[in-house]
Amino acid sequence: MDKNIDVIAIDGPAASGKSTVARLVAEKLGYLYLDTGCMYRAVTLAALQAGIDVADETAVTQLTQQIDIEVLPAQDEADGRHYTTLLNGRDVTWELRLPEVDANVSQVASYKGVREELVRRQRAYGRRGHVVMVGRDIGTVVMPDAPLKLYVTASPEERARRRWLDRQKQGFSDDYDTILADVIRRDQIDSNRQHSPLRPADDAIIMDTTERSVAEIVAEIVAMAQVGVR
Ligand code: DC
Repeated sequence: MDKNIDVIAIDGPAASGKSTVARLVAEKLGYLYLDTGCMYRAVTLAALQAGIDVADETAVTQLTQQIDIEVLPAQDEADGRHYTTLLNGRDVTWELRLPEVDANVSQVASYKGVREELVRRQRAYGRRGHVVMVGRDIGTVVMPDAPLKLYVTASPEERARRRWLDRQKQGFSDDYDTILADVIRRDQIDSNRQHSPLRPADDAIIMDTTERSVAEIVAEIVAMAQVGVR
């Protein structure tokens, strides 16, 4: 094959480094970086803002069908964002990172109807090609035919350490033990949920980032995409 791979699917647990890796790979190849987690976050934020109980699966599912979510490349916002998320046309990029969204998003992402609707929208991005799509179920459910699938992971302690550093940089003062407990709790929910649990696709290439640099991993993935090897 002499053509670059057009769709790259990247999955992995929270704070594994998959988003950073995906973003840099997209930048190098000139592809759209689509972080599908932001879509589950947008539904969660919309529910919280509408005063809908996130435990009410029917109401949250209905809401998902009614809202408009758009993911766009960053322009020149100069506020550290890597992409922009619009919820019904409103820029919610930073609101999606609020602790109340963090606390509720796993539950929202466990709902079958929510997932079906968002997967449908994610596939539409996939059909356009030139995309690096990152999430939990991209290789297994959203784009099972993607020619290059990666599963990026790292130890829970390393992931908690990275998240702690990120939060410090963003001006939040959460403590490490709380973050570690949250990483473990979210792994549990994401891996054990009934619909589309987090797991590597059978043909995914597993990449452990615990002791490897981001630059090294990005270079390896870009090389795979360019030669069309899977
Ligand atoms: O990657 P993140 O932390 O922004 O993801 C937020 C939540 O959405 C997390 O609970 C996992 C879930 N998610 C999912 O179930 N499927 C995806 N493709 C992406 C995220």
